[in-house]
Amino acid sequence: MTLLAIKDLIVRYGEIEAVHGLTLDVDEGQVVTLLGSNGAGKSTTLRAISGLIAPAAGDILFDGKSIAAHSPEAVVRMGISHVPEGRRVFPGLSVRENIMLGASNRSGGAGVLGREADEMFELFPDIRPFRDALGWTLSGGQQQMVAVARGLMAKPRLLLLDEPSLGLAPVIVQAVFRIISEIRRRGTTVLLVEQNARMGLSVADYGYVLESGRLALGGKPDELWGNEAIRAAYLGGGQAAARV
Ligand SMILES: Nc1ncnc2c1ncn2[C@@H]1O[C@H](COP(=O)(O)OP(=O)(O)OP(=O)(O)O)[C@@H](O)[C@H]1O
Ligand SMILES: [Mg+2]
Repeated sequence: MTLLAIKDLIVRYGEIEAVHGLTLDVDEGQVVTLLGSNGAGKSTTLRAISGLIAPAAGDILFDGKSIAAHSPEAVVRMGISHVPEGRRVFPGLSVRENIMLGASNRSGGAGVLGREADEMFELFPDIRPFRDALGWTLSGGQQQMVAVARGLMAKPRLLLLDEPSLGLAPVIVQAVFRIISEIRRRGTTVLLVEQNARMGLSVADYGYVLESGRLALGGKPDELWGNEAIRAAYLGGGQAAARV
C-alpha cells in the first residue's frame, strides 16, 4: 500500500526552483532511500513533506489525503516525523530531555512518555550511559542517535531521515544503519536521504536518484547497482565515490 505519494511536486525558494516536478511513492513498511549529490533537492523534498516549505505546485498525499498545505505541527500529528540535517540536539538539555521533546505532539502524562523515552535506550544502547548527560557533551554519533530517538518519540508512521550518516566515523555509521533496519522491523516506514549510496541502498527496499531537482531514476537496490552506466553516473562517480 502506498503510504506517501508525491505528485509533480515543484518547490521554490523565491526565484530559485529547487524541485522541478517530482513524482515518487513510498510504500507502507518499507525503507525508501533518496540519493543524489549536493543541491539535488533531497532536503527540500523532505521539507515540503513535513510542511516546512509550501509547494509551489503539485501534491503530497499521505495515506491518501493531501498534506501539501499543512503546517509542520499538523503534519507531525498526522504521523510524519522529520529528523533534519545537522542533528540539532539542545546543548543545555539532558539526553533524556532531548528525547522527550519529540513527544510534544502527543497527549499522555509525563510518566507514560518518560517510560517511553527510557524504552528508547533499548533501541539506542550506545546512548543509555549518557541518559543524564547534557547534549553538548555528546559525540556526533551520539547526537545523531538522540535526534533519531527524538523523531521516534512522536510515534510516526513515516520517519524522514536526512543524511543521518553525515560526518560520522564508519563504525558509528554502521550502528546508525542497524538502527534504521530495526526501526523498519518494528513497522515504521522510513524515507531516508543519503549521499552515501552504498549504505543508503544497503537498508533500502527501493531507491530513487534525484538529479538537479528531478527524478533521474528509481529501482530496487540491486537494479540500481546492477546497471553499470547508472552506477558510474549516479552512484559511483565523483564525490559520491569518495563517500561510498
Ligand atoms: N533556504 C534556501 N534558499 C535558497 N535556496 C536554497 C535554500 N535551501 C536550498 N536551496 C537551494 O535549493 C537546491 C536544493 O537544495 P537542497 O538543500 O534540497 O539539496 P540537497 O539535495 O539536500 O543537498 P545536500 O546533499 O547538500 O544537503 C540547491 O540549489 C540549494 O542551493
Ligand atoms: Mg540536504
